[in-house]
Amino acid sequence: MNDSSAYAEFLKAHLEYEATAHLDELRASEYARLDEQQHVYLDYTGGSLYADSQVRAHAELLTRQVFGNPHSASLTSSGMTELVEQTRRAVLEWFHAPPGEYTAVFTANATGALKHVGESYPFAPGGRFLLTADNHNSVNGIREFARAGGAAVEYAPLTFPELKIDRERLEPLLAGADPGADNLFAFPAQSNFSGVKHPLALIDDAHARGWDVLLDAAAYVPTSRLDLREVEPDFVALSFYKMFGYPTGVGCLLIRNTVLGKLRRPWFAGGTVNFATVQGRRHILSPGEAGFEDGTLNYLAIPAVGIGLRHLASIGIDTIQTRVRCLTSWLLQQLLELRHANGRHMVRIYGPMTAESRGGVVTMNFYDPEGHLLDYRRVEELASAQRISLRTGCFCNPGAGETAERLTEADVLEAVAEESDMTLPRFLKFITHRGGKSAGAVRVSLGVASNFADVLKFYEFARSLRDQTRITMGEVSFDIESCRVIRDGS
Ligand SMILES: Cc1ncc(COP(=O)(O)O)c(C=O)c1O
Repeated sequence: MNDSSAYAEFLKAHLEYEATAHLDELRASEYARLDEQQHVYLDYTGGSLYADSQVRAHAELLTRQVFGNPHSASLTSSGMTELVEQTRRAVLEWFHAPPGEYTAVFTANATGALKHVGESYPFAPGGRFLLTADNHNSVNGIREFARAGGAAVEYAPLTFPELKIDRERLEPLLAGADPGADNLFAFPAQSNFSGVKHPLALIDDAHARGWDVLLDAAAYVPTSRLDLREVEPDFVALSFYKMFGYPTGVGCLLIRNTVLGKLRRPWFAGGTVNFATVQGRRHILSPGEAGFEDGTLNYLAIPAVGIGLRHLASIGIDTIQTRVRCLTSWLLQQLLELRHANGRHMVRIYGPMTAESRGGVVTMNFYDPEGHLLDYRRVEELASAQRISLRTGCFCNPGAGETAERLTEADVLEAVAEESDMTLPRFLKFITHRGGKSAGAVRVSLGVASNFADVLKFYEFARSLRDQTRITMGEVSFDIESCRVIRDGS
């Protein structure tokens, strides 16, 4: 298949892609450095890319004006305060937060937002923290706050092999809460491991059973619209660099005002108090977002968030979503069809096999003609040699990876018992050699500047692994079709 005939076929199969053509122009004008340097960037879930004009607009703003540390009466300070507050309003408007219903707290990143929830939520005996097995470690880590507070911690399992939330098994877990206690349910709107888009309708279901809901939207909002008129999570965590590449160092926690009053900050700091005394050993926390913004905000970077949001608005988030869906759908189909000369499948895809209910993330492992796993670290090196940027490992989401590989508690505990100083590479070695399973995968993810050439290049790279046998790991082989480990050729 040559490039132009592949593109023609792709367009024929994905008619709605044509409507996103202005993104090709934008790629040439705003993201030209990609093609000038022949980069194939496929790590948008790691971090999105910024348009040149975002950086220019920000640099112009900074060089045109004099800005001081906000929250003071001076001209340079009050001008900065106004820009920070303007940006806060722009964030709430972007997510269509109904007036007066949400508070936007600026944080360093999504992790900072999640940590606020962990340390301030009133976890206590009788209450629960329920989270899906599919979660980033920055959500998993909240279980330590829950435990310390005496709340019960439970995981809601995923289905195999689709890696969706197992609704049947979730049901009794949701129903098990004491509505008189403080219960928190956390799930990602989109998995950073499999790309699965989990149903946002779960938010209402959980509310009806006495739960507050924490939605990790970090991987979802770069290519999908989150509309807070339609769903009302109590907490939403995100990082702006994942949405539009620049700036790094700024994230946000959206807090529904109805739950704001139940949060208890464990400390106070400069910027978070209306009053503090040393002699009296007392402090009065500032109300609203100010009580959560510890110390000096990243105030010079915050206006770049407004610039980024305007950039996304000028493109249209729905356009980005359509484009990413078409490219993902094509890539999935091609990868699923790849076979070795002996007819065996080359690629195992994690999560749903179509672009339905998933975002622009495709996570996979490669196998040799006998079903031996190819070492994904070597796959990444080979991809890098072709200037393809992708990501490998477990993506800080061990639960989704464990379900994908059917790793049991016993598997994990056995490995941990053997190695007190466990790392992912050591765990991978243990698990591949003992059980023919993997711990980690290859992830490609698409975003605002992705085009057909990017996915075609990756497909060609994947195809180049046909009949590859030199970079395998482990002796045990795997049958991709039946998702079964095969021992002794059985
Ligand atoms: C779903 C999800 N949640 C949370 C995070 C943490 O984001 P950050 O590292 O920006 O704090 C990530 C980062 O990849 C993510 O994908």
